[in-house]
Amino acid sequence: MMANKGIHWFLLAHLLVQIANTNARVPAIIVFGDSSVDAGNNNQIPTILKSNFEPYGRDFIGGQPTGRFSNGRIATDFISEAFGIKPTIPAYLDPTYGVKDFATGVCFASAGTGYDNATSNVLSVVPLWGELEYYKEYQKDLRGYLGEEKANEVLSEALYLISIGTNDFLENYYLLPERSLQFSIEEYQRFLAGIAGNFITELYNLGARKISLVGLPPMGCLPLARTTNILIGSECIEEYNNVAKDFNEKLKGLTTNLNKELTGIRLVFSNVYDFLFEMIQNPQLFGFEETATACCGTGLIEVSYLCEALSLFTCSDASKYVFWDSIHPTETTNGLLADHVMKNDLAHEFLR
Ligand SMILES: *[C@@H]1O[C@H](CO)[C@@H](O)[C@H](O)[C@H]1NC(C)=O
Repeated sequence: MMANKGIHWFLLAHLLVQIANTNARVPAIIVFGDSSVDAGNNNQIPTILKSNFEPYGRDFIGGQPTGRFSNGRIATDFISEAFGIKPTIPAYLDPTYGVKDFATGVCFASAGTGYDNATSNVLSVVPLWGELEYYKEYQKDLRGYLGEEKANEVLSEALYLISIGTNDFLENYYLLPERSLQFSIEEYQRFLAGIAGNFITELYNLGARKISLVGLPPMGCLPLARTTNILIGSECIEEYNNVAKDFNEKLKGLTTNLNKELTGIRLVFSNVYDFLFEMIQNPQLFGFEETATACCGTGLIEVSYLCEALSLFTCSDASKYVFWDSIHPTETTNGLLADHVMKNDLAHEFLR
């Protein structure tokens, strides 16, 4: 009798979970952006900006490097899990996945890219408009797989996540002459925000309705940036942080405007700046021990191929570090960031 009752409860719980799943308001998560959210697209293109080798991925499921720029999962994986969908979001260009996998989430992001076409040219990666072309191809495949009606439902109920922009400043504007001769930093920000607006509008015209636009991190505190300040105590570069804050204000304004202009859109601006800055300023509060340098190698400059398995300096426990390589957060940081974005922006807007 008791055992029987247990089974009934089990079946009931199972049924409730199934109902919750079929009523899930977000059936898929569709990701655009740069290395902050690239799940491995760069593995498939001829660029030197890759991370599909050890020690990348050493804390990932199965200890596998995947092309994610971290020791484990990235924030979008955690967000997908929090929505009850799946623990990882596959890269669109990865040939081991197909439309069946992509129907519940897909990543078009490419490390090294930016809003500006000139940024993606620097390391020959997929430009943002190229990510959109892949998305159109995906729409076609999804309609073939699910049928027109069901596919359109998935495409309009899906959550679109856009995380991009750091490279436009660090890999392009502040490094190369072209844009910095052409634009003041203020003009360049407006130029990029204009592209962001056009991109979101195009996505809306293609059927997207629920969109999270992620702002810039405190990019002056990335270990690589701090290393250039090594002679003056490796402080964060204030100018970069101020630009990130300014640009975030512009994206916030853009979000307000587009929510008024585009009927039925639900665009949220997701601010990660303040929370990440807090982690960097007070690492102990979050269980971290190191924030100025990264886990991989010396932690001063290593990223992509410079972060390599033979380095004797790589830390043994990445969870004690805010940053995994000189630009990208550890899995622990990614989990905390995802949790923050879920609680502050996504859960009450898109999950109930
Ligand atoms: C970027 O390049 C694409 C393809 O050539 C073009 O359609 C688009 O207008 C360009 N964007 C900007 C802002 O120049």
